[in-house]
Amino acid sequence: MSSGIRGLVRETTLGAEHLVLPLFVQEGRAARAPIASMPRHARLSVDLVVETAGEALALGVPAVALFPALPDSLKDPLARESTNDDGLLQRCVGELKRAHPELVVITDVALDPYSSDGHDGVVRDGRIVNDETLPILAAMAVSQARAGADVVAPSDMMDGRVAAIRRALDAAGFVDVLICSYCVKYASAFYGPFRDALDSAPRHGDKKSYQMDPANSREALREVALDETEGADWLMVKPGLPYLDVIRRVRDATSLPVAAYHVSGEYAMLEAAAALGVLDRDRCLLESMTCLRRAGADLIFTYAAMDVARLLRRG
Ligand code: PBG
Repeated sequence: MSSGIRGLVRETTLGAEHLVLPLFVQEGRAARAPIASMPRHARLSVDLVVETAGEALALGVPAVALFPALPDSLKDPLARESTNDDGLLQRCVGELKRAHPELVVITDVALDPYSSDGHDGVVRDGRIVNDETLPILAAMAVSQARAGADVVAPSDMMDGRVAAIRRALDAAGFVDVLICSYCVKYASAFYGPFRDALDSAPRHGDKKSYQMDPANSREALREVALDETEGADWLMVKPGLPYLDVIRRVRDATSLPVAAYHVSGEYAMLEAAAALGVLDRDRCLLESMTCLRRAGADLIFTYAAMDVARLLRRG
């Protein structure tokens, strides 16, 4: 069968316009700190984030998702630095929007990069206190919107946070700022390299009391229903490849756009296998992206966004 015929009947498309590039931000100028488990990625100072986002845009990747790496001296139990309008993340958003007004800037809403406990919510007596976390998340989202974020992305998995954030954004006049809810987020071992990059691993315990059990998928549909009624604009499933069935169930259950996050561990696995010479990295990458789209993802967060865009250009 000719490739023309295959093209005529292909069900799934993949383009750079479907991709979001996650970037790690740190203080400094012209500073690039490699991340051992994530080859070819690094923590970047704001100027290099701006430069990299420009390269991504030139390749047709329309969006970045930002994650700040803070020194321990700025971390505390209530993540106070997260609402500092002059904080690292907020400055980075401002610089990005100044340099690239058309870039879609997505910011992460969760306590972990700012928390001395390394948890996404406030910890008291070893437990996560859901309701006390909500006002902090809402204030963080408003601070990010004030800095210029187009989309705020709560990745914390506290109950009720989408409603709290939507209310706070609207009250502050940010009615056009979207919420991409990390709606179906599993307590996954595939986040390891990300936590290395930000030095944000939980200092004690794990995240199983608020992130989902990998054994469950019906629960995903409850999360979808809740986030829809609370006012989410996009719904995310995370990680990606081990959860293709969940992406499909979510796609079939909602009319909202569905995002998949091809997470740090998925990226690291491919890089490691390619370095050992046991996999063809480029072909595996394109296949992975196509499979995420086939499962139902409208958009894909991936550390390999620029590589995928380059490969698509080359045909
Ligand atoms: C934390 C957050 C995590 C990721 C995105 N936001 C890690 C976690 O929940 O511990 C993981 C992303 C990745 O592994 O690429 N709020």
